[in-house]
Formats: sequence, structure tokens, C-alpha cells
Amino acid sequence: MGTPAGGAAAPAPAPVLTELFDMSGTTALVTGAASGLGRAFAEVLVGVGAHVVAADLDERRLERAGKELAEAAEAGGSIECVTLDVRQADAVDAVFDDVVARTGRLDAVFANAGIALGKGPGEPAGYLENFDLGGWATLLDVNLNGVLHTIRAAARHMKPRGSGSIVLTASTAGLRVDPLVPYSYVAAKAAVVNLTHQAAIDLARWGVRVNAIAPGPFRTSIGGEGPMDRAAEEMWSSMTAMRRIGDPREIRGLALLLASRAGSYLTGGVYVIDGGQTLQAPALRLDGPAAP
Ligand SMILES: NC(=O)c1ccc[n+]([C@@H]2O[C@H](COP(=O)([O-])OP(=O)(O)OC[C@H]3O[C@@H](n4cnc5c(N)ncnc54)[C@H](O)[C@@H]3O)[C@@H](O)[C@H]2O)c1
Repeated sequence: MGTPAGGAAAPAPAPVLTELFDMSGTTALVTGAASGLGRAFAEVLVGVGAHVVAADLDERRLERAGKELAEAAEAGGSIECVTLDVRQADAVDAVFDDVVARTGRLDAVFANAGIALGKGPGEPAGYLENFDLGGWATLLDVNLNGVLHTIRAAARHMKPRGSGSIVLTASTAGLRVDPLVPYSYVAAKAAVVNLTHQAAIDLARWGVRVNAIAPGPFRTSIGGEGPMDRAAEEMWSSMTAMRRIGDPREIRGLALLLASRAGSYLTGGVYVIDGGQTLQAPALRLDGPAAP
């Protein structure tokens, strides 16, 4: 930390904050870290002193994010960037092996990389009998298989050490109907919720905690790079009790709670962070005939 203008040294953090949230000396790995929520996860971890491995498929965006994240580093935190496609199980294993070989540990893993693809059943292209099976397979490969590859690799290294925190990114669309997103997305995210529960009971015996974050609408690049169009932002905002979509920085506190010692008794949980979206009935915006 710097010295404030005037010369007085910045006050040391309260001991309780250090005890709960300091992650100096730990190693964390985040997939999908070049953008959006994953970037926010990496930012908070590097800010509390972790060595963060930021993994992403998009080399160009990852390089840019890596530079910015290095500036957010505090308390000895550091960042390295690794180009990785989570669909490739062998490549995921190789990255984890390399990280543990070099840093000697693995404390927190965020299985976060994900994509959005295709239409929901509110539109003809998203009707059950119409949607493209190629798109279904592509989405499940990233949003479900990619998550599985990541948490398996994490478990392999965390179990022998008897500790670790694994956090999966689910979605409110994995918890209830959402006609705005495709079948593939709701199926993958519902599966991520159950993977979380299953892995939590499996790995608790070895001191490894497993939780999921289920975000509502956040302003990220999942719908494409560049700012979200106004109509889309208004529509998603109207679905939350807070009448706005989330800024990715607003997910940092929950991420840190789950990754740090503050979350030492949390496992098997699915934590909704959605500005009150799920307090409201889902918006069933489905055109078409009335039911007979
Ligand atoms: N933004 C939202 O409103 C929202 C809501 C609920 C859940 N989520 C989930 O949050 C997670 C992060 O999404 P986001 O909104 O930050 O989107 P984003 O597009 O901003 O970031 C996702 C990142 O994942 C990377 N990625 C995609 N495929 C990959 C692969 N095969 N291997 C490695 N990296 C890959 C992308 O390059 C990108 O950097 C996803 O799992 C998404 O489903 C997002």
C-alpha cells in the first residue's frame, strides 16, 4: 500500500480482516479470467495477496486483463496468464500440474469460463423442436464439460493437501425457468448446481470445500464485446428487484468469502447474487397461441 499525501503511513488492516480475508502466500486459478466475472474474481484474489493464474481461451483479451490485474495486486499478490481451452481435459490437467509444480500449492479454483449461444424458447429458433443440436453440444462442452475438467483437476491436487476451495459459476438460469436463454444453457447450469452438491459431499472428507455462485444479470461480454445495447440492459434490469444489472465488481465480495478463510464452514452452497431477480416470478415472455 502507498503512503497517503501528507506523509502519514496508511493504517494496517484490522487483525480480524487479515485473519479472515488475507490470502498472501496462496495460489488461486480462475478460468475465463480475461473478462467479466472471472476477471473480477482474479482482481479480488490478487488484491488480497494471492498468486493468481488467470486462464482463458482469448489470448488477446487475457494479455490486456493481465496487465490491468497486475496493477490491482496488493499484499504481495501476483498474476500470471495462461491460454487455456477448458474443453480440452488434457490441457486443463497440464496447466494444473505445471502450476502446482512451480508454486507448490493450490488453494482456490474458480471454474468459471462459460459462453452463451443460441435463443431461448421465446423465439422460434429456440423452440424445443427447432434449436440447433450443434449449438447444444458446443455450449455443453464449455459450460458443463469445461467445468468438470476444471474441478477434477482441482480435486486431484487439493485432496492430497487436505484443503482447498472450489467455486463453480452457475446461474439463476440453472435454478428456475428462464425463457430468454436456450435449453442448452439452463441444462448446463442446472447440472453445474448438482455437480457442486455432489463434489461437496465427495471432497469434504479431504477438507476441500465446493460452492457455486449463481449470478443474475451482470454487465459482461457474454452477449458480445462492447457495451450491452440499451434495450437489452433495460429488459434485464426490469427483471431485478433493484431495477439494474450488476457490475462485475459487485461479485468480488462473495467470491472472496467463498475462497478465503472467512468461508471455512461453507460447502455445498449455491449463492444467488442477482439484485433480487429470483424474488420475482420469472418473466414468461413467450409469444404464440394460448394453451388449448
Ligand atoms: N453475465 C451474466 O449475466 C451471467 C449470469 C449468470 C452466469 N454467468 C456465467 O458467468 C461466467 C462468466 O461469464 P461472463 O458473464 O463473465 O462472460 P464473459 O464473456 O465476459 O467472460 C467469459 C470468459 O470465458 C472465456 N471462455 C469462453 N470459452 C472458454 C473456453 N473454452 N476455455 C477458456 N475460457 C473460455 C471467454 O474468453 C471470456 O473471457 C459464465 O459461466 C456465465 O455462464 C454470467
